[in-house]
Amino acid sequence: MKLADCHNIDDFRTLAKRRLPWPVFDYIDGAADDEITKARNTSAFDEVDLVPDVLAGVGSIDTSCTIMGRTSALPLMLSPTALQRAFHRDGERAVAQAAEKFGVWFGISSLATHSIEEIAALTGGPKLFQLYVHKDEGLNASLIQRCREAKFDALALTVDTIVSGKRERCLRSGFTTPPRFTARALWSYATRPRWTLDYVFGPKFRLPNLDRHVQEGTGKAVSIQDYFNTMLDTKMDWGTAERIRQDWGGTFALKGVMSAADARRAVEIGADAIWISNHGGRQLDGSRAPFDQLREIFDAVGGEIEIILDGGVRRGTHALKSLAGGATAASGGRLYLYALAAAGQAGVERAIGILKEEIERGMRLMGVTSVAQLTPERLRWR
Ligand code: FNR
Repeated sequence: MKLADCHNIDDFRTLAKRRLPWPVFDYIDGAADDEITKARNTSAFDEVDLVPDVLAGVGSIDTSCTIMGRTSALPLMLSPTALQRAFHRDGERAVAQAAEKFGVWFGISSLATHSIEEIAALTGGPKLFQLYVHKDEGLNASLIQRCREAKFDALALTVDTIVSGKRERCLRSGFTTPPRFTARALWSYATRPRWTLDYVFGPKFRLPNLDRHVQEGTGKAVSIQDYFNTMLDTKMDWGTAERIRQDWGGTFALKGVMSAADARRAVEIGADAIWISNHGGRQLDGSRAPFDQLREIFDAVGGEIEIILDGGVRRGTHALKSLAGGATAASGGRLYLYALAAAGQAGVERAIGILKEEIERGMRLMGVTSVAQLTPERLRWR
């Protein structure tokens, strides 16, 4: 199977599975506990049907929209995800450049393998920094200051990760950061020489925004669970979020809001956007799917704050359903990560290109010429 044979996001997943050693593939693909929430995040879209209009004169359509004050060519965002150098030698560089080419938002994780400054120099496209709240307040303040100096467009504070979810695939494989070769996965590394040679001889794996803290602090590889459980502030609350918003002073989003009551509190502390997200099912297994929560959250705060639907998005029609349900945009991680692992920047470009085409085709078949025409009347809940 080649890149040209990939016609949907699942095809990239197949290719990524072939290319990556299993501990690395399972880090991307896996989720918490029984992975019920991860599966539900996508299947939730199937409970709702689109109602098309015909003969609507859709010769030319406009897929653009405004997200957090910047124009996006598509109602689609690339969610921040960690450790991208482990998936491909170009890491975040590949994803940021593909995002800029398509005019969509790129989110860089606190656990990125490129620095805030490198990403800022690389792309003039809309970009946000995803902040985890560390116990070390000086570290939080310095990350915020660096984002301000690098002129990031927004800060997204992830609020669903005060402890790590129980990611059993990672426990079994012994996945660490930086990835280490373990005896139990040796065969998998040996049978994927392209990845293995590139990992050993290619650009060095680093976490430039946190290296000093994560690596030098322990002097050894750590699991992601160790990072969450030792470095992050388990006591963070609404006061913490409000202080960070004030300290940042720019466009501010809360990532990981799942209830209407919390969405209301996000409005009260002055956030500009919320991401309805359960971290792609990697945290609390058994929590509702973002799409299942969209309607009640939109009823509570629609029009007062932007709503980004994050998780389970694999199709253009998933984005259209999100928009019709009241979201400003749909966002996702795995939708571009499998493609990054499969073929670097070319893979990410093909993945975004496929979703773009699906969005355009879906809009035409729905009989709408702009994303604003996707309203709740266009959905039927079964
Ligand atoms: C993530 N996600 C994530 N979120 C975040 O705020 N900071 C991070 O560092 C990461 N890292 C990360 C790594 C990997 C491999 C995945 C799959 C996800 C969550 C991410 O931003 C997003 O919420 C989910 O990916 C959404 O679910 P889908 O689109 O993957 O189904």
